[in-house]
Amino acid sequence: MGKQRVLSGIQPTGNLHLGNYLGAIRNWVETQSNYDNFFCVVDLHAITVPHNPTTLASDTFTNAALYLACGIDLQYATIFVQSHIAAHSELTWLLNCITPLNWLERMIQFKEKAVKQGENVSVGLLDYPVLMAADILLYDADIVPVGEDQKQHVELTRDIAGRLNDKFGSKDEPVLKIPEPMIRKEGARVMSLTDGNKKMSKSDPSDMSRINLLDPPELIQKKIKRCKTDPVKGLTFDDPDRPECKNLLTLYTVFSNKTTSEVAEQCQDMGWGQFKPLLTEVTIDALKPIQEKYKEIIDDKGYLNSVLKEGKEKAEAVANQNLSKVKKVLGYLPPL
Ligand code: AMP
Ligand code: TRP
Repeated sequence: MGKQRVLSGIQPTGNLHLGNYLGAIRNWVETQSNYDNFFCVVDLHAITVPHNPTTLASDTFTNAALYLACGIDLQYATIFVQSHIAAHSELTWLLNCITPLNWLERMIQFKEKAVKQGENVSVGLLDYPVLMAADILLYDADIVPVGEDQKQHVELTRDIAGRLNDKFGSKDEPVLKIPEPMIRKEGARVMSLTDGNKKMSKSDPSDMSRINLLDPPELIQKKIKRCKTDPVKGLTFDDPDRPECKNLLTLYTVFSNKTTSEVAEQCQDMGWGQFKPLLTEVTIDALKPIQEKYKEIIDDKGYLNSVLKEGKEKAEAVANQNLSKVKKVLGYLPPL
């Protein structure tokens, strides 16, 4: 039996941060040798909110370089850019026509982002999860590794695929594969450094709220020094009234390669003044090899271009095959 297929992606909107790393990329890297992987830079998603056309291309390049710098291995994975493959947009249209509007209106991320946009909510923002469904279904993905916030979108993908199969497939021969989300418990939801009740996000206006993968050590130190804490001494994972405490201990656990119970014991009598330098050190150490590798890759544009060109060719072959399958069951006249 061949390997199961994994597909995932991240939007090229600004810098990737610890949430993207711990919620997504780190998990891609850890399991990559077990699967046939496709990792996409989802630049079509990036324009569902107002975007900057002068940085989109370089952000796309940076994302791809960071995938490699974080340890994605081309022996196991194909890296490509979503907008390079027209099938993503085309399947989105076809899926749009079988997706009930009220399924999209229910999406938590849409509701949250729509509130922020006020009058300017685009049709694209509402349609975002259908594009994500197309990303996944074009590759017959078995598994979609994401952070907790994307679980609802993967469930919607399952519903859309199920609906298409019911309407247009036969019982023994489903048209589309139904994917499973893969969500790791630790790091599935990394919280903001300035508010432990909000997730760390690229769209937070304050850069102090997140640690970006490319932040230099001095900046990481400054961000941790200034991050929100509380006046209580003794650190614990278990107090629901101390969300910042839980978040920072979780980051320390992950980057120190210790277990939760080891950290709980180590930090139970500590104050913030003692803990913060420890967290700073393990975070800087964990990001150092990624930053060094990133520098090498981004200085070799020719290499990165060749990775993306080869990725496009490989991904496109798979995507076009599945798109044709869907068009066929929908009854389209094939081109000559
Ligand atoms: P985005 O930055 O929205 O393109 O998200 C890309 C990936 O990172 C998705 O798998 C998200 O679930 C994950 N992610 C984003 N923010 C966080 C966070 N604060 N904690 C954990 N995972 C996150
Ligand atoms: N919506 C995802 C996010 O913001 C990004 C994404 C787009 C994605 N297409 C995908 C993730 C397909 C997994 C699979 O995090």
